[in-house]
Amino acid sequence: MKLKSASYFFALALLGASSLASAQSGESTYKQVCASCHGAGVLNAPKFGDKAKWAPLIAEGQVTLTAHAYFGVRAMPAKGGNPNLSIEGFSDALVYIVNNSGGNWKSPDAKTIAAINKEVEARKAGANKK
Ligand code: HEC
Repeated sequence: MKLKSASYFFALALLGASSLASAQSGESTYKQVCASCHGAGVLNAPKFGDKAKWAPLIAEGQVTLTAHAYFGVRAMPAKGGNPNLSIEGFSDALVYIVNNSGGNWKSPDAKTIAAINKEVEARKAGANKK
């Protein structure tokens, strides 16, 4: 019985490993890439944990906010200033910020990533027209 429940939990741990890994990488990406500005509110960046600042941003929705921030908006540099940061990595860092700032987002699934990509492309197309 003991052994059975132990292996059950082990299986659960394996199943959970992928989502856990992405949660961790969201936190570590935040610390490595975003915290320098969003930790202290550099250049008026909305501060990590500032629910009042994040509420209207969170209300834009995950696809829109992630895409616009990834593309870059005003003083917010594209990809958080790290050209090697993927949409997935950026999204998870943002999920980590949002979930510590009054929101409740999930690591985006493939469909959501595709929608974010589409919105980034739309931004690019708009920017190129200028
Ligand atoms: C060089 C500083 C800097 C870094 C690094 C940075 N940001 Fe920002 N970010 C800003 C500033 C400044 C703003 C506010 C932009 C404005 O409204 O002018 C901002 C705004 C945002 C917004 C709101 C965008 C909107 O539509 O108003 C999001 C989301 C965001 N950042 C996410 C991130 C994430 C995720 C990372 C790390 C992957 C990151 N930022 C890294 C400076 C930074």
